[in-house]
Amino acid sequence: MINGKVVNSPIRWAGSKKKILNEMLNAFKPDKENYIECFLGSGVVLINVLKNNDKLNYKNFYVNDINSNIINFYKLLQKKPTILIKQIFELVSAYNNYNIIEKEEYYYKLRSQFNDEDDLDNKSILFYFLMKTGFNGVYRENKAGKFNVPFGRKEKIVVNEEYLRELSKLIQPVKFYNLDYDSFLDKMNKDGRIDNSFMYCDPPYLPDDLLISQKQELYTNDSFDHRNFVEKIIKLNSKYIMISMSDSKQSDEIYGRFIKNSMKEILRTINPIKLFSSTEIAFTNYEIKITSKE
Ligand SMILES: C[S@@+](CC[C@H](N)C(=O)[O-])C[C@H]1O[C@@H](n2cnc3c(N)ncnc32)[C@H](O)[C@@H]1O
Repeated sequence: MINGKVVNSPIRWAGSKKKILNEMLNAFKPDKENYIECFLGSGVVLINVLKNNDKLNYKNFYVNDINSNIINFYKLLQKKPTILIKQIFELVSAYNNYNIIEKEEYYYKLRSQFNDEDDLDNKSILFYFLMKTGFNGVYRENKAGKFNVPFGRKEKIVVNEEYLRELSKLIQPVKFYNLDYDSFLDKMNKDGRIDNSFMYCDPPYLPDDLLISQKQELYTNDSFDHRNFVEKIIKLNSKYIMISMSDSKQSDEIYGRFIKNSMKEILRTINPIKLFSSTEIAFTNYEIKITSKE
């Protein structure tokens, strides 16, 4: 059984699966050739899959997110950890030495630099910094596709070099993709990766009523059509899929053809200002037995 300490993601991220991770990993279908993750987010699930792969026993890892900053950050960490670490330390030590007014100015200066940056490596480093110092670890863009999260008033940023180096080693076998899930799954299918796979999907938040529907745009500039997503994965005919979701009437209706497995009560940050309590569930197309101990 998987019940060790959960490893954090290097990227600060609202709504990460960290709190229920061991419980989830115990419900994953092990011993498959390919681990496929369609919506990587902070990467915390992938990292802990890799860490526990002596028990899960996957051979290949294919992960995807439509947010290019996330994927470019991980690719840089994978290929050029020394450059990444050096530049992160430069930004962070300047930040830590400033008073709060200077910190705020610095944040907004780097935020506009990030929005105008063309060099992918530089952009990844700025992305890491903004997620650490922005409000609540939220990634949000305005209509023009510009990152617009306000300053988070963090006093000090701590960066652990050894941890980043370990992580860089851990992610060496992973193939990262920056596609819409639809194209990513087409690619997986075309390359014959689906047959012997376990697929984990944590799609964007599904709002339970119309009033909060804008919150589904928290992670990207576009809204997400859950019905299209269900149609897509059904067509794929994969035997082992798990989809994370908050319990709601809407999710029952849209994901009704899957087996509904109830996880435990967790807090999920769906709003930068407010914390909501929700019941986390996992829809699967296979029977699972969750045996994780508290
Ligand atoms: C709920 S988050 C995943 C969180 C992740 N499991 C964690 O614990 O950090 C959903 C992710 O889906 C990505 N996303 C949104 N629409 C997408 C699409 N059409 N195709 C691929 N990824 C998408 C977002 O960028 C976001 O990172």
